[in-house]
Amino acid sequence: MKVKVTKSDLQSVSTDLLVLPFSSVDLNKEAGQALAEIGFDVRVLKDFKAEAGEVVVLYGGRTEYSAARIAILGIGEGKTIDDWRKATVSFASKATDLKIEKVAVDCSRIEALSAATAQPVATLVAALVEGCFSGSYRFDCLKSGKLDKKSSGEKSKGIAELLIRVNSGVFDEAEKGAVDGKIIGSCQKMAKDMVNLPGNHLHAGDIAKAAMDSGKKYGYEVTVFHKKEIEALSMGGLLAVNKGSHHPPTFTVLDYKPKGKVKAVIALIGKGVTFDSGGISLKPSENMGEMKSDMSGAASVLGAVEAAARFELPLHVIGFIPATDNMPGSTAQQPGDVITTYSGITVEVGNTDAEGRLILADALSYAKEKYNPDVIVDVATLTGACIVSLGYAVAGLFCNNDKLAEEIYQAGQQSGEMVWRMPLWDLYGEQIKSDVADVNNTGGRGAGSVTAAKFLEKFIDGHKNWAHIDIAGPSFTPKGSGKVNGGTGFGVGLLVELLKKWS
Ligand code: BES
Ligand code: MN
Ligand code: ZN
Repeated sequence: MKVKVTKSDLQSVSTDLLVLPFSSVDLNKEAGQALAEIGFDVRVLKDFKAEAGEVVVLYGGRTEYSAARIAILGIGEGKTIDDWRKATVSFASKATDLKIEKVAVDCSRIEALSAATAQPVATLVAALVEGCFSGSYRFDCLKSGKLDKKSSGEKSKGIAELLIRVNSGVFDEAEKGAVDGKIIGSCQKMAKDMVNLPGNHLHAGDIAKAAMDSGKKYGYEVTVFHKKEIEALSMGGLLAVNKGSHHPPTFTVLDYKPKGKVKAVIALIGKGVTFDSGGISLKPSENMGEMKSDMSGAASVLGAVEAAARFELPLHVIGFIPATDNMPGSTAQQPGDVITTYSGITVEVGNTDAEGRLILADALSYAKEKYNPDVIVDVATLTGACIVSLGYAVAGLFCNNDKLAEEIYQAGQQSGEMVWRMPLWDLYGEQIKSDVADVNNTGGRGAGSVTAAKFLEKFIDGHKNWAHIDIAGPSFTPKGSGKVNGGTGFGVGLLVELLKKWS
Protein backbone atom coordinates (compact mmCIF):
# COMPACT_ATOMS: atom_id res chain seq x y z
CA MET A 1 0.00 0.00 0.00
CA LYS A 2 1.36 3.39 -1.05
CA VAL A 3 0.65 6.11 1.49
CA LYS A 4 0.94 9.80 0.71
CA VAL A 5 0.18 12.89 2.75
CA THR A 6 -0.92 16.01 0.87
CA LYS A 7 -1.85 19.61 1.59
CA SER A 8 -3.61 20.18 -1.68
CA ASP A 9 -7.32 20.63 -2.22
CA LEU A 10 -9.24 17.40 -2.50
CA GLN A 11 -11.56 18.80 -5.12
CA SER A 12 -8.96 18.21 -7.79
CA VAL A 13 -7.78 14.82 -6.59
CA SER A 14 -8.87 12.03 -8.86
CA THR A 15 -9.57 9.11 -6.59
CA ASP A 16 -11.91 6.13 -6.55
CA LEU A 17 -13.21 7.03 -3.12
CA LEU A 18 -13.05 10.26 -1.17
CA VAL A 19 -13.66 9.68 2.54
CA LEU A 20 -15.14 12.48 4.64
CA PRO A 21 -15.09 11.69 8.37
CA PHE A 22 -17.71 13.29 10.65
CA SER A 23 -18.38 12.98 14.34
CA SER A 24 -21.90 12.97 15.71
CA VAL A 25 -21.20 16.47 17.01
CA ASP A 26 -20.17 17.68 13.54
CA LEU A 27 -23.19 16.13 11.99
CA ASN A 28 -25.58 19.04 12.11
CA LYS A 29 -23.11 21.86 11.72
CA GLU A 30 -20.35 20.79 9.38
CA ALA A 31 -21.68 17.82 7.50
CA GLY A 32 -24.61 19.62 5.89
CA GLN A 33 -22.37 22.41 4.69
CA ALA A 34 -19.68 20.06 3.43
CA LEU A 35 -22.25 18.01 1.56
CA ALA A 36 -23.85 21.07 -0.01
CA GLU A 37 -20.42 22.17 -1.18
CA ILE A 38 -19.89 18.97 -3.10
CA GLY A 39 -23.37 18.98 -4.50
CA PHE A 40 -25.40 16.72 -2.24
CA ASP A 41 -28.63 17.45 -0.53
CA VAL A 42 -28.26 17.10 3.23
CA ARG A 43 -31.22 14.71 3.20
CA VAL A 44 -28.94 11.89 2.05
CA LEU A 45 -27.79 11.81 5.67
CA LYS A 46 -31.27 11.34 7.09
CA ASP A 47 -30.52 7.96 8.62
CA PHE A 48 -26.83 8.60 9.31
CA LYS A 49 -25.96 8.79 13.01
CA ALA A 50 -22.17 9.07 12.65
CA GLU A 51 -21.68 6.02 14.81
CA ALA A 52 -18.06 4.91 14.76
CA GLY A 53 -17.60 2.87 11.61
CA GLU A 54 -20.87 3.85 9.93
CA VAL A 55 -20.28 4.39 6.20
CA VAL A 56 -22.57 5.85 3.54
CA VAL A 57 -21.27 5.73 -0.02
CA LEU A 58 -22.62 8.42 -2.36
CA TYR A 59 -22.47 8.56 -6.14
CA GLY A 60 -22.82 11.66 -8.26
CA GLY A 61 -22.58 15.16 -6.82
CA ARG A 62 -20.97 18.16 -8.45
CA THR A 63 -18.96 17.34 -11.55
CA GLU A 64 -16.08 19.63 -10.50
CA TYR A 65 -15.22 16.94 -8.02
CA SER A 66 -12.96 14.35 -9.53
CA ALA A 67 -13.63 11.59 -6.98
CA ALA A 68 -15.72 8.74 -8.37
CA ARG A 69 -17.43 8.14 -5.03
CA ILE A 70 -17.78 9.92 -1.72
CA ALA A 71 -17.93 8.06 1.57
CA ILE A 72 -19.41 9.75 4.61
CA LEU A 73 -17.72 8.13 7.59
CA GLY A 74 -18.97 8.19 11.16
CA ILE A 75 -16.34 8.51 13.89
CA GLY A 76 -18.71 8.39 16.86
CA GLU A 77 -18.43 11.33 19.22
CA GLY A 78 -14.90 11.87 17.98
CA LYS A 79 -13.50 11.66 21.49
CA THR A 80 -11.57 8.41 21.57
CA ILE A 81 -8.84 6.86 19.48
CA ASP A 82 -10.76 3.57 19.69
CA ASP A 83 -13.70 5.07 17.76
CA TRP A 84 -11.26 6.51 15.24
CA ARG A 85 -9.62 3.10 14.78
CA LYS A 86 -12.97 1.43 14.36
CA ALA A 87 -13.98 3.98 11.74
CA THR A 88 -10.80 3.59 9.71
CA VAL A 89 -11.06 -0.20 9.66
CA SER A 90 -14.67 0.09 8.59
CA PHE A 91 -14.25 2.30 5.52
CA ALA A 92 -11.17 0.36 4.41
CA SER A 93 -13.15 -2.86 4.60
CA LYS A 94 -16.01 -1.29 2.64
CA ALA A 95 -13.62 0.05 0.00
CA THR A 96 -12.04 -3.38 -0.35
CA ASP A 97 -15.42 -5.05 -0.76
CA LEU A 98 -16.14 -2.56 -3.53
CA LYS A 99 -12.74 -3.47 -5.08
CA ILE A 100 -11.61 0.13 -4.79
CA GLU A 101 -7.86 0.65 -4.97
CA LYS A 102 -7.35 4.40 -4.67
CA VAL A 103 -8.66 6.12 -1.58
CA ALA A 104 -8.29 9.69 -0.30
CA VAL A 105 -9.20 10.67 3.24
CA ASP A 106 -10.00 14.23 4.22
CA CYS A 107 -8.22 14.86 7.51
CA SER A 108 -8.67 18.64 7.37
CA ARG A 109 -10.18 18.61 10.84
CA ILE A 110 -7.70 16.23 12.44
CA GLU A 111 -6.45 19.06 14.72
CA ALA A 112 -9.86 19.12 16.42
CA LEU A 113 -9.87 15.34 16.71
CA SER A 114 -6.38 15.53 18.18
CA ALA A 115 -7.54 17.99 20.82
CA ALA A 116 -10.68 16.02 21.66
CA THR A 117 -8.91 12.66 21.94
CA ALA A 118 -5.74 14.05 23.54
CA GLN A 119 -3.73 12.14 20.94
CA PRO A 120 -0.99 13.68 18.78
CA VAL A 121 -1.82 14.11 15.10
CA ALA A 122 0.96 11.64 14.22
CA THR A 123 -0.70 8.97 16.37
CA LEU A 124 -4.08 9.53 14.72
CA VAL A 125 -2.59 9.37 11.24
CA ALA A 126 -0.68 6.20 12.16
CA ALA A 127 -3.94 4.69 13.42
CA LEU A 128 -5.60 5.64 10.14
CA VAL A 129 -2.92 3.89 8.09
CA GLU A 130 -3.00 0.83 10.37
CA GLY A 131 -6.78 0.78 10.06
CA CYS A 132 -6.47 0.78 6.27
CA PHE A 133 -4.12 -2.19 6.37
CA SER A 134 -6.41 -3.97 8.76
CA GLY A 135 -9.74 -3.24 7.07
CA SER A 136 -8.48 -4.10 3.62
CA TYR A 137 -6.85 -7.34 4.78
CA ARG A 138 -8.15 -10.47 3.08
CA PHE A 139 -6.69 -13.97 3.20
CA ASP A 140 -7.27 -15.42 -0.24
CA CYS A 141 -3.83 -16.69 -1.24
CA LEU A 142 -5.04 -20.29 -1.09
CA LYS A 143 -8.02 -19.74 -3.38
CA SER A 144 -7.42 -20.94 -6.94
CA GLY A 145 -10.65 -19.56 -8.32
CA LYS A 146 -11.23 -22.82 -10.18
CA LEU A 147 -14.73 -23.36 -8.81
CA ASP A 148 -15.97 -19.87 -8.37
CA LYS A 149 -14.20 -17.54 -10.79
CA LYS A 150 -16.33 -14.56 -9.88
CA SER A 151 -15.65 -14.40 -6.20
CA SER A 152 -12.24 -15.94 -5.75
CA GLY A 153 -10.54 -16.00 -9.14
CA GLU A 154 -9.91 -12.34 -8.73
CA LYS A 155 -7.81 -12.01 -5.61
CA SER A 156 -8.26 -8.99 -3.44
CA LYS A 157 -5.54 -6.40 -3.84
CA GLY A 158 -6.83 -4.29 -0.98
CA ILE A 159 -6.20 -0.56 -0.98
CA ALA A 160 -3.19 0.12 -3.21
CA GLU A 161 -2.98 3.87 -2.70
CA LEU A 162 -3.97 5.94 0.29
CA LEU A 163 -3.89 9.71 0.13
CA ILE A 164 -4.29 11.69 3.35
CA ARG A 165 -5.22 15.36 3.16
CA VAL A 166 -4.14 17.58 6.05
CA ASN A 167 -3.61 21.29 6.69
CA SER A 168 -0.08 22.54 6.20
CA GLY A 169 0.38 23.20 9.93
CA VAL A 170 0.37 19.50 10.74
CA PHE A 171 1.87 18.20 7.50
CA ASP A 172 5.22 17.08 8.94
CA GLU A 173 3.61 15.41 11.90
CA ALA A 174 1.14 13.63 9.65
CA GLU A 175 3.94 12.39 7.41
CA LYS A 176 5.72 10.91 10.40
CA GLY A 177 2.51 9.23 11.50
CA ALA A 178 1.99 7.80 8.04
CA VAL A 179 5.43 6.18 8.06
CA ASP A 180 4.82 4.72 11.54
CA GLY A 181 1.41 3.40 10.56
CA LYS A 182 2.81 1.76 7.47
CA ILE A 183 5.47 -0.11 9.44
CA ILE A 184 3.05 -1.35 12.09
CA GLY A 185 0.33 -2.11 9.55
CA SER A 186 2.60 -4.19 7.36
CA CYS A 187 4.09 -6.07 10.33
CA GLN A 188 0.56 -6.87 11.50
CA LYS A 189 -0.31 -8.10 8.02
CA MET A 190 2.71 -10.41 8.01
CA ALA A 191 1.63 -11.82 11.39
CA LYS A 192 -1.95 -12.38 10.21
CA ASP A 193 -0.79 -14.21 7.10
CA MET A 194 1.31 -16.57 9.20
CA VAL A 195 -1.52 -17.25 11.63
CA ASN A 196 -3.98 -17.91 8.83
CA LEU A 197 -1.75 -20.36 6.98
CA PRO A 198 -2.94 -23.85 7.90
CA GLY A 199 -0.76 -26.59 9.37
CA ASN A 200 0.04 -28.14 6.01
CA HIS A 201 1.27 -24.82 4.62
CA LEU A 202 3.32 -23.64 7.58
CA HIS A 203 5.77 -25.88 9.40
CA ALA A 204 8.46 -25.01 11.92
CA GLY A 205 10.96 -24.56 9.08
CA ASP A 206 8.69 -22.01 7.41
CA ILE A 207 8.60 -19.84 10.53
CA ALA A 208 12.40 -19.93 10.60
CA LYS A 209 12.51 -19.00 6.94
CA ALA A 210 10.11 -16.10 7.40
CA ALA A 211 12.39 -14.80 10.15
CA MET A 212 15.50 -15.20 7.95
CA ASP A 213 13.81 -13.30 5.11
CA SER A 214 12.78 -10.49 7.41
CA GLY A 215 16.25 -10.29 8.97
CA LYS A 216 17.89 -10.07 5.55
CA LYS A 217 15.49 -7.40 4.39
CA TYR A 218 15.68 -5.17 7.45
CA GLY A 219 19.24 -5.77 8.56
CA TYR A 220 19.12 -7.83 11.72
CA GLU A 221 20.70 -11.16 12.53
CA VAL A 222 18.73 -14.39 12.53
CA THR A 223 20.07 -17.73 13.75
CA VAL A 224 18.13 -20.92 13.20
CA PHE A 225 18.83 -23.95 15.38
CA HIS A 226 17.80 -27.14 13.58
CA LYS A 227 16.95 -30.47 15.16
CA LYS A 228 20.57 -31.61 15.65
CA GLU A 229 21.49 -28.34 17.33
CA ILE A 230 18.35 -28.40 19.45
CA GLU A 231 19.39 -31.89 20.56
CA ALA A 232 22.89 -30.68 21.28
CA LEU A 233 21.41 -27.91 23.44
CA SER A 234 19.28 -30.51 25.27
CA MET A 235 16.06 -28.62 24.75
CA GLY A 236 14.01 -31.48 26.11
CA GLY A 237 10.70 -29.62 26.11
CA LEU A 238 10.76 -28.70 22.43
CA LEU A 239 12.05 -32.15 21.46
CA ALA A 240 9.37 -33.94 23.50
CA VAL A 241 6.54 -32.00 21.85
CA ASN A 242 8.07 -32.66 18.44
CA LYS A 243 8.31 -36.42 18.98
CA GLY A 244 5.03 -37.24 17.22
CA SER A 245 5.78 -35.02 14.23
CA HIS A 246 7.06 -35.73 10.74
CA HIS A 247 8.48 -32.23 10.59
CA PRO A 248 11.64 -31.29 12.48
CA PRO A 249 11.45 -28.51 15.07
CA THR A 250 13.24 -25.19 14.80
CA PHE A 251 14.43 -22.71 17.37
CA THR A 252 14.89 -19.29 15.83
CA VAL A 253 16.72 -16.38 17.44
CA LEU A 254 16.10 -12.94 15.93
CA ASP A 255 18.69 -10.44 17.07
CA TYR A 256 18.23 -6.74 16.40
CA LYS A 257 20.94 -4.39 17.69
CA PRO A 258 20.82 -0.64 17.13
CA LYS A 259 23.79 1.17 15.61
CA GLY A 260 24.15 3.57 18.53
CA LYS A 261 23.74 3.26 22.27
CA VAL A 262 21.59 0.45 23.70
CA LYS A 263 19.01 1.67 26.23
CA ALA A 264 17.87 -1.79 27.30
CA VAL A 265 18.05 -5.46 26.36
CA ILE A 266 14.61 -6.93 25.69
CA ALA A 267 13.84 -10.63 25.18
CA LEU A 268 10.59 -11.47 23.38
CA ILE A 269 9.54 -15.10 23.31
CA GLY A 270 6.75 -16.44 21.11
CA LYS A 271 4.99 -19.81 21.15
CA GLY A 272 5.31 -21.33 17.69
CA VAL A 273 3.06 -24.41 17.62
CA THR A 274 2.15 -24.60 13.94
CA PHE A 275 -0.72 -26.97 14.66
CA ASP A 276 -1.90 -28.23 18.03
CA SER A 277 -3.86 -31.48 17.84
CA GLY A 278 -3.28 -32.01 21.55
CA GLY A 279 -0.98 -34.96 20.85
CA ILE A 280 -1.90 -38.25 22.55
CA SER A 281 -4.17 -36.19 24.83
CA LEU A 282 -6.06 -35.51 21.62
CA LYS A 283 -8.37 -32.51 21.41
CA PRO A 284 -12.05 -32.95 20.45
CA SER A 285 -12.49 -32.62 16.68
CA GLU A 286 -14.90 -29.70 16.81
CA ASN A 287 -13.03 -26.53 15.74
CA MET A 288 -9.69 -28.32 15.97
CA GLY A 289 -8.75 -26.59 12.71
CA GLU A 290 -8.51 -23.32 14.58
CA MET A 291 -5.39 -24.71 16.23
CA LYS A 292 -3.47 -23.67 13.12
CA SER A 293 -3.35 -20.38 15.01
CA ASP A 294 -1.28 -21.81 17.87
CA MET A 295 1.81 -20.02 16.55
CA SER A 296 0.26 -16.56 16.99
CA GLY A 297 2.76 -15.67 19.71
CA ALA A 298 5.61 -16.46 17.32
CA ALA A 299 4.00 -14.33 14.62
CA SER A 300 3.65 -11.33 16.91
CA VAL A 301 7.25 -11.65 18.11
CA LEU A 302 8.48 -11.76 14.51
CA GLY A 303 6.31 -8.74 13.69
CA ALA A 304 7.59 -6.82 16.72
CA VAL A 305 11.28 -7.51 16.08
CA GLU A 306 10.88 -6.53 12.43
CA ALA A 307 9.14 -3.32 13.49
CA ALA A 308 11.91 -2.56 16.03
CA ALA A 309 14.48 -2.90 13.24
CA ARG A 310 12.50 -0.75 10.81
CA PHE A 311 11.98 1.94 13.46
CA GLU A 312 15.68 1.65 14.36
CA LEU A 313 14.78 1.70 18.04
CA PRO A 314 17.68 2.23 20.49
CA LEU A 315 17.04 -1.16 22.10
CA HIS A 316 18.67 -4.54 21.77
CA VAL A 317 15.65 -6.68 20.96
CA ILE A 318 16.02 -10.44 20.76
CA GLY A 319 13.17 -12.66 19.64
CA PHE A 320 13.10 -16.37 20.49
CA ILE A 321 10.78 -18.70 18.63
CA PRO A 322 10.58 -22.39 19.52
CA ALA A 323 8.50 -24.04 16.78
CA THR A 324 6.95 -27.43 16.11
CA ASP A 325 3.56 -29.00 15.58
CA ASN A 326 1.98 -31.14 18.31
CA MET A 327 0.87 -34.46 16.87
CA PRO A 328 -0.15 -37.89 18.15
CA GLY A 329 1.44 -41.07 16.79
CA SER A 330 3.44 -44.07 17.85
CA THR A 331 6.52 -41.95 18.43
CA ALA A 332 4.70 -39.14 20.26
CA GLN A 333 5.31 -38.35 23.90
CA GLN A 334 2.83 -39.97 26.26
CA PRO A 335 0.95 -38.70 29.30
CA GLY A 336 2.95 -39.63 32.36
CA ASP A 337 6.31 -39.23 30.62
CA VAL A 338 9.00 -37.39 32.53
CA ILE A 339 11.23 -35.14 30.46
CA THR A 340 14.28 -33.01 31.21
CA THR A 341 14.13 -29.43 29.95
CA TYR A 342 17.03 -27.20 28.85
CA SER A 343 17.32 -25.84 32.40
CA GLY A 344 17.70 -29.33 33.87
CA ILE A 345 14.30 -29.04 35.56
CA THR A 346 12.33 -32.27 35.08
CA VAL A 347 8.67 -32.21 34.07
CA GLU A 348 5.95 -34.81 34.41
CA VAL A 349 3.82 -34.54 31.29
CA GLY A 350 0.38 -34.84 32.84
CA ASN A 351 -1.23 -33.85 29.57
CA THR A 352 0.41 -33.69 26.14
CA ASP A 353 -2.01 -30.92 25.20
CA ALA A 354 -0.23 -28.61 27.63
CA GLU A 355 2.61 -28.46 25.07
CA GLY A 356 3.06 -24.70 24.77
CA ARG A 357 4.56 -24.37 28.22
CA LEU A 358 7.04 -27.16 27.45
CA ILE A 359 8.54 -25.41 24.45
CA LEU A 360 8.40 -22.01 26.17
CA ALA A 361 10.21 -23.45 29.18
CA ASP A 362 13.29 -24.14 27.06
CA ALA A 363 13.15 -20.78 25.32
CA LEU A 364 12.72 -18.83 28.58
CA SER A 365 15.67 -20.50 30.27
CA TYR A 366 17.82 -20.11 27.18
CA ALA A 367 17.00 -16.41 26.80
CA LYS A 368 17.72 -15.69 30.46
CA GLU A 369 20.96 -17.68 30.51
CA LYS A 370 22.50 -16.47 27.25
CA TYR A 371 21.41 -12.83 27.15
CA ASN A 372 20.59 -11.81 30.72
CA PRO A 373 17.96 -9.37 29.38
CA ASP A 374 16.55 -6.42 31.32
CA VAL A 375 13.03 -7.54 30.46
CA ILE A 376 11.57 -10.88 29.37
CA VAL A 377 8.15 -10.92 27.73
CA ASP A 378 6.60 -14.09 26.38
CA VAL A 379 3.52 -14.15 24.20
CA ALA A 380 1.53 -17.35 23.75
CA THR A 381 -1.82 -18.87 22.87
CA LEU A 382 -1.40 -20.83 26.05
CA THR A 383 -4.74 -21.77 27.57
CA GLY A 384 -8.42 -22.15 26.76
CA ALA A 385 -8.93 -21.18 30.39
CA CYS A 386 -7.76 -17.65 29.60
CA ILE A 387 -10.59 -17.36 27.06
CA VAL A 388 -13.03 -18.49 29.73
CA SER A 389 -11.73 -15.77 32.04
CA LEU A 390 -11.37 -12.82 29.68
CA GLY A 391 -13.08 -13.67 26.39
CA TYR A 392 -11.96 -13.06 22.82
CA ALA A 393 -10.95 -9.41 22.96
CA VAL A 394 -8.56 -9.21 25.89
CA ALA A 395 -5.28 -10.97 26.69
CA GLY A 396 -4.28 -12.25 30.13
CA LEU A 397 -1.25 -10.58 31.69
CA PHE A 398 0.88 -12.37 34.27
CA CYS A 399 3.77 -10.36 35.60
CA ASN A 400 6.16 -10.51 38.52
CA ASN A 401 6.91 -6.78 38.45
CA ASP A 402 4.27 -4.11 39.18
CA LYS A 403 6.00 -1.39 37.15
CA LEU A 404 6.31 -3.62 34.09
CA ALA A 405 2.70 -4.75 34.50
CA GLU A 406 1.53 -1.14 34.53
CA GLU A 407 3.60 -0.31 31.42
CA ILE A 408 2.13 -3.27 29.54
CA TYR A 409 -1.38 -2.38 30.68
CA GLN A 410 -0.91 1.20 29.40
CA ALA A 411 0.58 0.00 26.11
CA GLY A 412 -2.54 -2.13 25.73
CA GLN A 413 -4.85 0.82 26.31
CA GLN A 414 -2.93 2.97 23.84
CA SER A 415 -2.59 0.35 21.09
CA GLY A 416 -6.12 -0.99 21.49
CA GLU A 417 -4.68 -4.47 22.17
CA MET A 418 -5.87 -4.71 25.72
CA VAL A 419 -4.55 -6.85 28.56
CA TRP A 420 -5.88 -7.52 32.04
CA ARG A 421 -3.65 -8.59 34.89
CA MET A 422 -4.15 -11.95 36.60
CA PRO A 423 -2.51 -13.12 39.84
CA LEU A 424 0.68 -15.13 40.20
CA TRP A 425 0.25 -15.95 43.88
CA ASP A 426 2.26 -18.85 45.19
CA LEU A 427 -0.80 -20.72 46.39
CA TYR A 428 -1.47 -21.63 42.76
CA GLY A 429 1.90 -23.38 42.63
CA GLU A 430 0.43 -26.18 44.75
CA GLN A 431 -1.60 -27.34 41.76
CA ILE A 432 1.39 -28.14 39.59
CA LYS A 433 3.36 -30.18 42.10
CA SER A 434 4.47 -33.60 40.85
CA ASP A 435 5.13 -36.80 42.80
CA VAL A 436 7.75 -38.03 40.37
CA ALA A 437 9.32 -34.96 38.76
CA ASP A 438 10.17 -31.36 39.73
CA VAL A 439 6.90 -30.06 38.32
CA ASN A 440 3.78 -31.20 36.46
CA ASN A 441 2.71 -29.53 33.22
CA THR A 442 -0.95 -29.55 34.23
CA GLY A 443 -2.67 -28.10 37.25
CA GLY A 444 -6.15 -29.54 37.25
CA ARG A 445 -9.42 -27.79 36.53
CA GLY A 446 -9.26 -24.52 38.42
CA ALA A 447 -7.37 -21.39 37.33
CA GLY A 448 -5.88 -23.00 34.23
CA SER A 449 -4.32 -19.84 32.86
CA VAL A 450 -2.72 -19.03 36.22
CA THR A 451 -1.23 -22.49 36.79
CA ALA A 452 0.18 -22.32 33.24
CA ALA A 453 1.86 -19.03 34.13
CA LYS A 454 3.13 -20.47 37.43
CA PHE A 455 4.69 -23.27 35.38
CA LEU A 456 6.50 -20.80 33.10
CA GLU A 457 7.71 -18.83 36.12
CA LYS A 458 9.85 -21.82 37.16
CA PHE A 459 11.96 -21.42 34.05
CA ILE A 460 13.00 -17.76 34.31
CA ASP A 461 15.58 -18.56 36.98
CA GLY A 462 14.44 -15.84 39.38
CA HIS A 463 14.39 -13.05 36.79
CA LYS A 464 12.74 -10.01 38.36
CA ASN A 465 11.19 -8.41 35.31
CA TRP A 466 9.16 -10.98 33.41
CA ALA A 467 5.73 -10.90 31.84
CA HIS A 468 3.68 -13.63 30.24
CA ILE A 469 0.85 -12.60 27.92
CA ASP A 470 -1.76 -15.26 27.16
CA ILE A 471 -3.29 -14.33 23.80
CA ALA A 472 -5.41 -17.48 23.29
CA GLY A 473 -8.56 -15.33 23.04
CA PRO A 474 -7.66 -12.26 20.97
CA SER A 475 -5.21 -13.91 18.54
CA PHE A 476 -7.89 -15.48 16.41
CA THR A 477 -11.49 -14.51 15.71
CA PRO A 478 -13.48 -17.68 15.25
CA LYS A 479 -16.17 -18.02 12.60
CA GLY A 480 -19.42 -16.25 13.25
CA SER A 481 -18.14 -13.70 15.71
CA GLY A 482 -18.98 -10.88 13.31
CA LYS A 483 -15.56 -9.44 12.50
CA VAL A 484 -13.20 -10.73 9.83
CA ASN A 485 -12.57 -14.35 10.72
CA GLY A 486 -9.07 -15.56 11.39
CA GLY A 487 -5.75 -14.25 12.64
CA THR A 488 -5.77 -10.77 14.16
CA GLY A 489 -2.05 -10.06 14.50
CA PHE A 490 -2.73 -9.30 18.19
CA GLY A 491 0.50 -8.59 20.02
CA VAL A 492 2.36 -6.70 17.31
CA GLY A 493 0.71 -3.38 18.16
CA LEU A 494 1.04 -3.97 21.89
CA LEU A 495 4.72 -4.98 21.78
CA VAL A 496 5.68 -2.16 19.43
CA GLU A 497 3.94 0.38 21.67
CA LEU A 498 5.87 -1.04 24.62
CA LEU A 499 9.23 -1.01 22.81
CA LYS A 500 8.66 2.58 21.69
CA LYS A 501 7.94 3.57 25.27
CA TRP A 502 11.31 2.20 26.33
CA SER A 503 13.13 3.95 23.49
N1 BES B 1 -3.16 -24.08 22.30
C1 BES B 1 -3.90 -24.48 23.41
C2 BES B 1 -4.67 -23.34 24.07
C3 BES B 1 -5.75 -22.70 23.24
C4 BES B 1 -7.06 -23.13 23.35
C5 BES B 1 -5.47 -21.64 22.41
C6 BES B 1 -8.06 -22.53 22.60
C7 BES B 1 -6.46 -21.02 21.66
C8 BES B 1 -7.77 -21.48 21.76
C9 BES B 1 -2.99 -25.10 24.47
O1 BES B 1 -1.89 -25.77 23.97
C10 BES B 1 -3.80 -26.09 25.22
O2 BES B 1 -4.22 -27.04 24.64
N2 BES B 1 -4.00 -25.85 26.51
C11 BES B 1 -4.76 -26.73 27.32
C12 BES B 1 -4.03 -26.90 28.62
C13 BES B 1 -4.57 -28.00 29.47
C14 BES B 1 -4.35 -29.34 28.81
C15 BES B 1 -3.86 -27.96 30.79
C16 BES B 1 -6.13 -26.10 27.52
O3 BES B 1 -6.24 -24.88 27.59
O4 BES B 1 -7.11 -26.85 27.56
MN1 MN C 1 -2.34 -27.77 23.50
ZN1 ZN D 1 -1.23 -25.20 22.16
